[in-house]
Amino acid sequence: MSERTVYITTPIYYVNDRPHIGHCYTTLLGDVTARFHRLMDPTPGSTFFLTGTDEHADKVVTSAAAHGVTPQQWADRNAAEFEKAFAFMNSSHDDFIRTTQDRHKSKVLEYIRALQKRGDIYLGDYTGWFDASQEEYLTETAAKEANYVSPVTGVPLVKKTEKNYFFKLSAYEARLKDHFAKHPGFVQPEARRNEVLGRLNELRDIPISRAITDDPTSQWGIKMPDDPTHRIYVWIDALFNYLSVVDTDARRKYWPASVHFIAKDILWFHAVIWPALLMALHDSDAKYGFVQLPTAVYSHAYWVREGRKMSKSLGNFVSIEVLQAYAARYGLDAVRWYLITQGPQGATDADFSHAKFVEVYNAELANGIGNCASRVSNMIEKYFGGSTPAIGAASTRVHAACADAGGKVATALKSLDTHAVTSLAVAIIREVDAYINDTQPFKLAKTVDQNPAAKDDLGAILANCAEAIRIASVLMSPAMPQKMAQLWQAWSCTPAPGAPLASLCTFAGPHSLKPGQKIAKGDALFMRADPAEAPPA
Ligand code: MSP
Repeated sequence: MSERTVYITTPIYYVNDRPHIGHCYTTLLGDVTARFHRLMDPTPGSTFFLTGTDEHADKVVTSAAAHGVTPQQWADRNAAEFEKAFAFMNSSHDDFIRTTQDRHKSKVLEYIRALQKRGDIYLGDYTGWFDASQEEYLTETAAKEANYVSPVTGVPLVKKTEKNYFFKLSAYEARLKDHFAKHPGFVQPEARRNEVLGRLNELRDIPISRAITDDPTSQWGIKMPDDPTHRIYVWIDALFNYLSVVDTDARRKYWPASVHFIAKDILWFHAVIWPALLMALHDSDAKYGFVQLPTAVYSHAYWVREGRKMSKSLGNFVSIEVLQAYAARYGLDAVRWYLITQGPQGATDADFSHAKFVEVYNAELANGIGNCASRVSNMIEKYFGGSTPAIGAASTRVHAACADAGGKVATALKSLDTHAVTSLAVAIIREVDAYINDTQPFKLAKTVDQNPAAKDDLGAILANCAEAIRIASVLMSPAMPQKMAQLWQAWSCTPAPGAPLASLCTFAGPHSLKPGQKIAKGDALFMRADPAEAPPA
């Protein structure tokens, strides 16, 4: 049994939208991180990865009506689109939560009841600026700053007053501040943490319900316990998904979440409201003693397209269809690689540009690991009949490039930095290329007839290269599981199930290529791309 479990989540996406690069990216970030954790600790069930859909938004009702179906039918249809999109992206989530499922709804009611019992929920009046496109209220200051239009979509805000149940967020300000002070890694990256800290003052209580009227829109959602005239505000319902999914006897061990991956748009909900709800729930009843705060909320920046913000009005989203067209031409793993290595981890937006895609594809994949693996396996086939030569005294520059790869991955994952791992893999491949250029094994091969001792040197050079490529391939495998599996098959080095990453990444270690082991050239992993060719979509 593993000592500690890892629990990774993504936002649950509004079921009304069509899946696009933003949704696919955050889910991919969760997927790649989960795959790394499963490699580090292969104990079955030690990592749990969750994604899903948020279905109680008002827009679901209006769209359903426009399409002549019920809100539930509309949600079913669109949730299926997200499931298909993430299956296409080869996401390895362990569960897919839909907020219209009974397992979630019944838990939300239980949590709200517990908060009521504790006295953290009361009925009051709320007046505010409502952003219908985001299903959220803005404070007077925030609304003024945004010129009374939605800061996200530009839709005009509407002033509304309603009777609401309120959550006593204000009562948690001091404890939240304390938590931030004691856990500097709670909100990452640093820039986002500072943003939250800058606003963590004079917190007001927040409405957590909406009145139910004759308007069918207002009837969609989870009803407040013991009050059929109110439904639970979609955001409160949604946040609870992270807990409801694992609040079962078999899964409670996963809580607290290791990381909630989100983007900067929904930071406040995750960094302030969510932890306050959890604190309140924790204190409400002894049975919620396990409800500690998540270890980290990681809020990445945004994808933009060809330098421009993506928006409905511009109609320029990189849709799932665009990603599928790229995958059809360059392979799905190339798309995963581009998104994960060039994506907006950290606080700076990232650009989805065709020219950049082709540049990265050629440099790191076709001319990178693809060409490097084919060069080395070619030579092993040609000079050693496809049988791995002995590695000799392995103290080469490629050996040095692989030093402590397992330790480096562990450190990078602690700071949620998958870029550090993919960059390490790229650096190893560059080192192999440079080593081949330095040692010129193809020239050395020509001297073997006159000088048989040179054959050992030649063998050692190629075995060092192959071993370094194997390690790079392990490091690249969470991002490119299919392509790396193809390479491992040709090289007969598929990692044994249950082999932990630290030993898989040890140069000339227990899982290294052994002398005599068959290495076949196999099909090219990546064909070179023509930069002049028009984008696929
Ligand atoms: N339903 C809420 C989240 C509830 S979580 C308890 C929601 N849904 S959403 O469909 O709007 O998804 C927002 C998330 O999608 C972002 O936080 C991010 O993960 C992803 N992205 C949406 N657009 C994006 C970009 N342009 N770039 C990167 N990711 C973005 O908010």
